[in-house]
Amino acid sequence: MLHRLTTQVGIVGAGPAGLLLARLLQVNGIDAIVIENRSREHVIDRVRAGVLEHGTVTLLTALGVGAGVRRGGLRHDGVHISFRGHRHHIDLAGLTDGKGITVYGQNEVVRDLIDARVATGAPLYFEAAHVEVRGLESSPEIRFRHGDDEYEVRCDFIAGCDGFHGICRQAFPEGVLTIYERAYPFGWLGILAEAAPSSDELVYTYHDRGFALFSMRSPTITRLYFQVAPDESIEQWSDHAIWEEMLRRMTTSDGWQPSVGPILQKSVTPMRSFVAAPMRHGRLFLAGDAAHIVPPTGAKGLNLAASDVLVLGRALKGFYQAGRTDWLAEYSETCLRRVWKAQRFSWWMTSTLHRFPDETAFDHQRQLADLDYLTGSRAAMTSLAEQYVGLPFEVPLESAGLPV
Ligand code: APR
Ligand code: PHB
Repeated sequence: MLHRLTTQVGIVGAGPAGLLLARLLQVNGIDAIVIENRSREHVIDRVRAGVLEHGTVTLLTALGVGAGVRRGGLRHDGVHISFRGHRHHIDLAGLTDGKGITVYGQNEVVRDLIDARVATGAPLYFEAAHVEVRGLESSPEIRFRHGDDEYEVRCDFIAGCDGFHGICRQAFPEGVLTIYERAYPFGWLGILAEAAPSSDELVYTYHDRGFALFSMRSPTITRLYFQVAPDESIEQWSDHAIWEEMLRRMTTSDGWQPSVGPILQKSVTPMRSFVAAPMRHGRLFLAGDAAHIVPPTGAKGLNLAASDVLVLGRALKGFYQAGRTDWLAEYSETCLRRVWKAQRFSWWMTSTLHRFPDETAFDHQRQLADLDYLTGSRAAMTSLAEQYVGLPFEVPLESAGLPV
């Protein structure tokens, strides 16, 4: 059976970008339909990064979906940078007028947003097949199959929130997009372990054998990563070998090391920096990973999705409530300013903390000097701190109809 639906904004993808946008539109009385090709369980169980910037937590709270992060999030006022066997503390809160980060799994954010949307009965389709977008310049339409039924959704605008591998960026006409890209000659092997975190704060380690990162998800779950070859197969790594390598890279001369426990999940992620510009064509707007990818070293992926959504929410509110088209026209330019600053930060963290296969002895010494300068200069620590807790959003929350 064919269902013909009409809405104001058709949202493709129920990751953080799509779900946050749906919520922001709902708060402003704008209709939307969310279309996701995977199952609800898959979207919720996907293990992803877990650092929320100060502003992202404020946004979740203003959207009325902050209860989960308030209950389960771990607020951190500092972070450690470790090299040559010593951990150096960076006082994020002290250097940024009290701002910090909150460790809360991206899948928890997604779960909270799905629960909130389902509770209102607003449309959200999982397991949509053959999703297609058309009519981008004049009368946008999304088609998909759901079970045995066909759907045709007419809308004023389409929000492409379908991640890096989605279809919306692909739907831009030939020649419209400029792609800026950098692949890194390494990936991250990541594990979730059933072990109480042995540090209250994250530890980013530069070691002769390569980068390593100590993080966490809860008072009983540790999240750890180390640098491997980009095409490394996870099957090559026994749990024993993973722990041996983690401990070798992370143990400091004062004896600090992560607590060991059963490995619950393990995977290898490639690293890239990617920007597609402009983020808009006609009535199709890209947000989040659909338009840009950062390497995870700066923990910016989800936070950039959130800032795009705020800018898009403001533009759509301005259009529906005041007939404004200038904010829609400026959408891409406004987002890209913050996107490029986060790209620069993520590239810098990545370049400073990893070993490169083609590096020279000069490069290696320069990296060590970079870290020595970073951890010994208040100015350098302040620069890291203000970027790590998150640069200000390009537009105020009030302009998108949110309480402050
Ligand atoms: N049709 C419908 N949905 C799709 C399609 C499609 N053709 N293709 C992909 N999707 C869905 C994916 O299954 C996913 O749920 O779009 C969603 C995109 O979500 P994310 O990949 O999480 O991207 P985004 O919402 O932009 O969030 C950015 O996610 O990848 C992490 O590190 C990244 O933290 C960042 C955040
Ligand atoms: C994580 O906890 O998964 C995490 C933390 C910091 C990063 C990347 C990932 O930079």
